[in-house]
Amino acid sequence: MKIDILTLFPEMFAPLRESILGRAQKQGKLKINIVNIRDYTLDKHLKCDDYPFGGGAGMVMLPQPIGDAIDALDPEHKARRIYLSPKGETLVQQKVFELVECEHLILLCGHYEGVDQRIIDLFIDEEISIGDYVLTGGELPAMVLVDCVARYVDGVLNTSSLVDESFSDGLLEYPQYTRPQVYRGLEVPEVLRSGNHAAVDKWRREQAEIITAKKRPDLLKR
Ligand SMILES: C[S@@+](CC[C@H](N)C(=O)[O-])C[C@H]1O[C@@H](n2cnc3c(N)ncnc32)[C@H](O)[C@@H]1O
Repeated sequence: MKIDILTLFPEMFAPLRESILGRAQKQGKLKINIVNIRDYTLDKHLKCDDYPFGGGAGMVMLPQPIGDAIDALDPEHKARRIYLSPKGETLVQQKVFELVECEHLILLCGHYEGVDQRIIDLFIDEEISIGDYVLTGGELPAMVLVDCVARYVDGVLNTSSLVDESFSDGLLEYPQYTRPQVYRGLEVPEVLRSGNHAAVDKWRREQAEIITAKKRPDLLKR
C-alpha cells in the first residue's frame, strides 16, 4: 500500500519511522510518502495560506499548492483522497477494513482554519474525523489513520495478533495477563493457567461479552 500525506509540517511525521510502521516500511510492505505542500506553491514568498473571504479569525490554506500537489501525485485520480477534518465521518474500525483494500491513499492535513472549500469540492473523495473535538492540524489525525490501517496491511503484523481484538467482531477484547502470577495481591484467573484451551477460549469470550455490555453496550446493539 502506498500512502501520500500532504502537510505543511513534514517534521511532525517522525513517529511513523518508529516501531512496527518503521519496520514495515523498511521491509517494503508499506510506502509512506510525506509531501510538503509548500514545495508546490507558485508564490515567490512560498505563501500557502491567506485571510478568509468574509472576514473572521485565522488563515485558510490556499487551493493552488494543494491542487497542484494532488494533480502531480495522482494525475488519473486512482487514489482514494481523504481530507482529515472534524466535519468528516467519524473513524471506526469498519472504515479501517474498507481503506486497507485501497492500493493508494492520499491524506490531506489541514492547518489553521482548514483548507479552501474548493479543494474539498474538486479533489477530495471523503472527509474523515478522528472524533468530536478540534485539533490544531490534520497531522495527528493522519497518523492515527495510517497507524490503524497499516496494522491490517499484509505482513505488517502477525495475523494472530489481529484475531479477537477490540472491535474485530463487534466486541471489546477480554482482559490480558502476564507474569507474575500474583501482583499486589491480585491473582491471574486460574483458567488462564489451566492449559485447557477450550476453557480459556470460553472464558475469554464470556469476558469480552461482559466487558462490552458494561463499557460499550452500543456495540452489542449494532
Ligand atoms: C483548527 S482545525 C480547523 C477547524 C475548522 N475551522 C472547524 O471549525 O471545523 C485545523 C485542521 O485540523 C484538522 N483537524 C482538527 N480536528 C480534527 C478532527 N477531529 N479530525 C480530523 N482532523 C481534524 C483538520 O485537517 C483541520 O483542517
